[in-house]
Amino acid sequence: MSKEQSGAVLAIDFGTSNSAVGVFAQGKVRLIELELGKQTLPTALFFDFEDKTVAFGSQAEQALFEGAWGRYMRALKSLLGTPLIRESGMFLGKRMSYLQIVARFLSEIKTRAECETGMLFTKALSGRPVRFHADEARDMQALADLREAYHLAGFAEVRFMNEPEAAARAQARILQAGDLGLVIDIGGGTSDFTLFRTKADGSINTLRSEGLRLGGTNFDRLLSFDHVMPLMGRGSQIRHAFGDQTHQAPNAIFADLATWQKIPFLYTPDTRRAAKDLLKYASAPEKLTRLVRVLDDERGHDLAFAVEAAKIALNSKPLAQVDMRLGALEKGLSAPLYALALEHSLQPSAVQIAETALACTTGAGVQAQSVTHLILVGGSSLMQVVQTAVSDAFPDAEVHHGAALTGIIEGLAEASGEWQP
Ligand SMILES: Nc1ncnc2c1ncn2[C@@H]1O[C@H](COP(=O)(O)OP(=O)(O)OP(=O)(O)O)[C@@H](O)[C@H]1O
Ligand SMILES: [Mg+2]
Repeated sequence: MSKEQSGAVLAIDFGTSNSAVGVFAQGKVRLIELELGKQTLPTALFFDFEDKTVAFGSQAEQALFEGAWGRYMRALKSLLGTPLIRESGMFLGKRMSYLQIVARFLSEIKTRAECETGMLFTKALSGRPVRFHADEARDMQALADLREAYHLAGFAEVRFMNEPEAAARAQARILQAGDLGLVIDIGGGTSDFTLFRTKADGSINTLRSEGLRLGGTNFDRLLSFDHVMPLMGRGSQIRHAFGDQTHQAPNAIFADLATWQKIPFLYTPDTRRAAKDLLKYASAPEKLTRLVRVLDDERGHDLAFAVEAAKIALNSKPLAQVDMRLGALEKGLSAPLYALALEHSLQPSAVQIAETALACTTGAGVQAQSVTHLILVGGSSLMQVVQTAVSDAFPDAEVHHGAALTGIIEGLAEASGEWQP
């Protein structure tokens, strides 16, 4: 192995929903296909209990949709910095923690990138959200967890760069010298902001970055909690074992079932028993029967996908409603999601995103009117409710839609060229 090969740096955008990798080679950025013909890979795994194999990305989704016997996981990045990342389970005859599962995913993309390029990667330049968590200690723990996962995956050295700073770097060419740009990256798990000024040589001066733990998976959670979970008994009455009194079904189980990263933790005997107890005393047994079925059949992710698909369809087309396909609850069942209901559920989040964008500018001592360009990246920046909120907050800025899903990896790959061996 040549010296050059042994020191290669892999740029990695490890996202909540999608990941991407790239390198800086022969003076230019090269994005590496992790799946045939695609520049991004869904951050998902499927442990197939029958074949005793692990599938990644789209293949993991395929296995879930086909109803293969196994365990699907997505949005594991959101577990970093929480106690759940240290929990473990038996997967394919081996006890694994969720941190080791994150490492398994990272090691798979390392191997795929090595096969694709013929290089050997010992260093990772990874993106990181500006804030994994609002709480300082949790935020630091999340970064330590991610670093540990990279080491377990076989990277000897890891460096991190704020995700929106990487995007600012890659997208700066849109701006003229002296312009003031604000990157707004709304992903699956977090919203990230970088305010920067373009210099005469085309490089940038980063003025400030801000982050918020809120993204597309939160949108899915809010929509599912408001519009799907009631069909499974959320908010319905449960009779007391003795007497005529009733109480409302507790929200916790429904909140977790609506949250991508928490779904696998619900498939336990304890949770299934709790759901059956609710059903036993339910005033609306037809609804609680659905809850019991979803937990028994492990179809929680089918609901998350149904909600996400409805969200994207409503956002992409001028429709008043779309049907969410909820066959996982009951054969042939579908339920409408209305455009107005979506807006109502997501409006407070959009306001929070716009307020954090404004805090990024005021924190740098800059007035909102001085921002000349907004650069929107990340899949959830395509949400109209978000676009309206941020363009209202910066009415004088030109809005650019950067490469929604590759803006960050392009910047990381470019920056990896400066990591000298
Ligand atoms: N056309 C669309 N309209 C609305 N939302 C979309 C669209 N396409 C994708 N999304 C949402 O974008 C999110 C994924 O975006 P992205 O790939 O940028 O996130 P990520 O980089 O994986 O997450 P993060 O950076 O927060 O860790 C998902 O929640 C998805 O539902
Ligand atoms: Mg991202």
